Amino acid sequence: MSQAVDKTMVAWATSVAEAELSGALPRRWAHSQGVAARAAELASALSNDAGLLAAAATLHDVGYAPRLVVTGFHPLDGARFLRDEHGADEQLVRLVANHSFALLEAEERGLREELEAEFPLLEEPLLVDALVYCDMTTTPDGEPTTAQDRVEEIVGRYGADSAVGRFIRRASLEIFAAVERVDAALATQPR
Ligand SMILES: [Fe+2]
Repeated sequence: MSQAVDKTMVAWATSVAEAELSGALPRRWAHSQGVAARAAELASALSNDAGLLAAAATLHDVGYAPRLVVTGFHPLDGARFLRDEHGADEQLVRLVANHSFALLEAEERGLREELEAEFPLLEEPLLVDALVYCDMTTTPDGEPTTAQDRVEEIVGRYGADSAVGRFIRRASLEIFAAVERVDAALATQPR
């Protein structure tokens, strides 16, 4: 994918996410912008996929927008919205559907088979890890944080026994491992 196409996709993603989130859920929008800023930091490690990562980062939580809530599981609602209302790039839609170990949360909600069948996980582990990294090292207000603090914050906010709390506790080791893999990939980048 060329740089020009990348930039077009990122600009489009930003305008869609802003339209859906900034008015209805300003804090989610601040978080999404912070996640996009993290994605920009990873651009050199992702080379050709940098635009795709940036677009997915901006849009990953779009499914929280109240008008888009159908199942109440935001990765699935967001991905279906992007596919059905915007005919979005298939890889982008699959990244949004699977962001930050959504399959594990889908399992808690009895939606794993539906999610897997409709939006298979991308076979690009570094790109998938990179989106985990961006989301899980950004606070709800869009500031940088550590994955450890982020997981604690999520458990505290939703409650340890909620679907999200159970999911994040199960996913935490995977989250930390993904962040470490991205850190390792960044460490090999020329500065
Ligand atoms: Fe997020």
